[in-house]
Amino acid sequence: MSRLGLHSWIWWSQLLPGVSLWTQCALNEVLDLGHEELDRFWQDYVLDWSSLHIDSGASLEDARFFMKWTYILTQTEEVLKSVASDCLFGVLTVLLQSLPAIDYEKGRSEALEVLEITEDLVAILDEQPDSSEIRSVASAAGWDVEALLRTAKLYGRVLRPRRPETCRLKVYVYPAPKTRTATRSLLHDGNYLNAMSAGMPLQCLFGMYGTELLFHQWFLQEAAACESTPEDADLFYVPSYFKCIEVLNYFDHFDSEETEASKLFNKTLKELDAGSWQRRGGADHIFLFSWGRHPCRIPAWREPLQSVIQLQVEDHCEDLNYQSPEASFSRWKDLIIPGHVDQWRVEALRKANRPMKSRDVLVAFHGRSAENTESYGNVTIRTKIMRYLQGLPGVSVGGFVEEYHKLMGRSRFCLAPRGITPWTIHLFVAMLAGCIPVILSDDLEAPFQDLLDWSSFSIKWPTERVQDLYEYLKSLPVDLVSEMKTAVDRNSCWFDYYSPEPNCGPFTAVNLLLQKRVAQRPSFAGHFWAPLVG
Ligand SMILES: *[C@@H]1O[C@H](CO)[C@@H](O)[C@H](O)[C@H]1NC(C)=O
Ligand SMILES: *[C@@H]1O[C@H](CO)[C@@H](O)[C@H](O)[C@H]1NC(C)=O
Repeated sequence: MSRLGLHSWIWWSQLLPGVSLWTQCALNEVLDLGHEELDRFWQDYVLDWSSLHIDSGASLEDARFFMKWTYILTQTEEVLKSVASDCLFGVLTVLLQSLPAIDYEKGRSEALEVLEITEDLVAILDEQPDSSEIRSVASAAGWDVEALLRTAKLYGRVLRPRRPETCRLKVYVYPAPKTRTATRSLLHDGNYLNAMSAGMPLQCLFGMYGTELLFHQWFLQEAAACESTPEDADLFYVPSYFKCIEVLNYFDHFDSEETEASKLFNKTLKELDAGSWQRRGGADHIFLFSWGRHPCRIPAWREPLQSVIQLQVEDHCEDLNYQSPEASFSRWKDLIIPGHVDQWRVEALRKANRPMKSRDVLVAFHGRSAENTESYGNVTIRTKIMRYLQGLPGVSVGGFVEEYHKLMGRSRFCLAPRGITPWTIHLFVAMLAGCIPVILSDDLEAPFQDLLDWSSFSIKWPTERVQDLYEYLKSLPVDLVSEMKTAVDRNSCWFDYYSPEPNCGPFTAVNLLLQKRVAQRPSFAGHFWAPLVG
């Protein structure tokens, strides 16, 4: 596929004015693929995907479908011109949906070429004199124009990270481990390897575990600003795709034994630079665990990681169904990070956020519980929520509902109960919807306690007293609740990986907290010492 320069686009686009051209969406009229059933191609196969609600590895199969179409639609400049001028937002949908698969299977440089085509198309749209009319006609036809433009920008940011102007954190980022040995691939399919060696697979951006990619990218940016080398670095970041590799394994059927995380972990340790590691006994190395049941699910993690700084979502590993609590966090060195909420969901939640005076629901919670999910049989707090709160005036609790974002946006309090692990994404989702979170998870360790006054914007209530919660919430004075709601809105940026505020967000927090860690780091004399003999 050849790169299509913008200059040729401008020449071309001037030949094709008029709204109807861009939004006609009749593939068979512009491209003869010899399939009559493709008559309604855009409407039947593409339109519903324009919202780009990509959640996790689950979408890889879909992305592959769109990848095939990307190659058909971009086979020549002529073809691309015809289809893009016939159905611009359809083409953008296909290209953007396919990018994670292209990045995963064909590598970063091909992904960048496709990204550049989408960016060129967006630029052409912007240059049209009737650009806003084109957008509204497309929106009326069902295309999620906003999501398409937002995602094109997001992928641009992720695939081409920008270097900050000032050096803040002298961190060295290890290259991704070589997952292919001389004789065989670590995974019997080499795709993950290709994506990993490109830096960071875009496929890892989605869902709760997106922190693996986002922090890797952020540390790389910081490292670039400081031009850090292993010799002068204060900190070392170890790319940690331990959950993403499991997700990819699950959806791509690499290995039925499901030991990818452990293999990758072992491989990662083996490739650490011995000199750098020994300088401070590992105390300047950073690992990240984006999943509550890591690191404990990785055998033999404890010994090698005893001194490293862990970024993680939980303070201990626990699985109510077959693993008792096991401490995995030290308040002295490790940092709790918020779980990742996808950008599209952040936007939807922020949009749903209503002012206090138009919040007509006292308390809300909808999600998994024993009532709808078998594996939640042991999660007694959720059973109790249903028992003590369901049906009370001003309360909306139960199973999954449509429009939960909107419901949170009009509730004063949102419950964040533990699930099978103490950690829960409900906490961060509530904050982003401007809803005061009520944490019902006794062992939850909240992120950034060094920086934030958690009691000003949230409540952590003992699970054994859930039967008293309703009366308590009802009794809180309106002024106090309003103040808390204001504090929620002021602090929600700390949990937003896409925060537009330059000095408020998870990366800012981690930067500040890591600087403290560097300042207080203990000295290490090394394993051996002896005076030199003359
Ligand atoms: C990784 O190493 C540990 C400790 O040496 C070992 O117990 C574990 O089985 C290894 N995992 C794999 C998948 O090889
Ligand atoms: C609840 O936990 C017990 C013991 O840990 C386990 O045997 C049981 O299978 C769990 N129930 C469910 C629904 O997973």
